[in-house]
Amino acid sequence: MKIGLVGAGYVGATTAYALMLQGIASELVLIDVNKDRAEGEALDLIHSTSFVHPVEIYAGDYSDLAGAEIVIISAGPSIGKNETRLDLAGKNYEIFKNIIPRITRHNDSCILLIVTNPVDVLSYAALRLSGFPKNRVIGSGTVLDSSRFRAALAAKLGVDARNIHGYILGEHGDSQVAAWSLTNIMGINFDEFCAKYAGNCGTNIKEEIEKQVRTSAYKVIAKKGATNYAVALAIAKIVKSILRNENSILTVSTYVEDLDGVGDVYLSLPCIVNKHGADRVLIPQLSNNEKADLKKSAEIIKKYIEDVMG
Ligand code: 2OP
Repeated sequence: MKIGLVGAGYVGATTAYALMLQGIASELVLIDVNKDRAEGEALDLIHSTSFVHPVEIYAGDYSDLAGAEIVIISAGPSIGKNETRLDLAGKNYEIFKNIIPRITRHNDSCILLIVTNPVDVLSYAALRLSGFPKNRVIGSGTVLDSSRFRAALAAKLGVDARNIHGYILGEHGDSQVAAWSLTNIMGINFDEFCAKYAGNCGTNIKEEIEKQVRTSAYKVIAKKGATNYAVALAIAKIVKSILRNENSILTVSTYVEDLDGVGDVYLSLPCIVNKHGADRVLIPQLSNNEKADLKKSAEIIKKYIEDVMG
């Protein structure tokens, strides 16, 4: 099980660490424009191999991606102060025009897992630049936001996050949509749970939680410059679902042919993720407001795709 990581910054390196700790891969190759950075991270990780499952870790070149099952791309600048993810679209598309052909030259059978922001726009770009089938080009999407959503609900409701089914859909960004109509705890829908078991939760609870989730990355970035831990575990979960053929339902960013008239776009919907990648997309039953918000989110992503890729 060989995994390639293109980009060995905060996110790439922490992802390698998460994969190493979980014993998911037997070989990890780190690639970065800054070779020293990749070599330094690889060395640091190698020094911990006596504590984990056997794994070969090294800094390499694009040719070392031959035979990798998954190539995770987190290369490119991350969001700076007063920037949104979408502001990075042009810059990071230029980087992808260079990176994707260098990957596919050595490996045309892997699954591309895109993390670089704006992840929906760049997953679409990766699909077009690689010529891969759509199930083999996946964006990390709102897997992270869904985890943030579940963590916020867990704190509010006093319930283990793992017992909460909750999904953020649409853009991994400011237009994301909290699918309240799907949110349940042990099959009990959110409103009923609040009323019966959580002392009513307050009138603005939904808006508060949505805002908390939507702005959480900005908050972390303002304090420490980047986000890395939660995203690394979100990526590790996607990787595990692929390598172990788990059929997990994850809100990865995936190709959508038509969403209420908006088509040929990438965005997050619940997907069954297994050895084929994003194998099946599930279209959940949403409320009319959620449907309208999801369409708006798709339109925003589509506009950026068109602006950047022409
Ligand atoms: C995150 O949500 C910045 O997209 C990154 O943590």
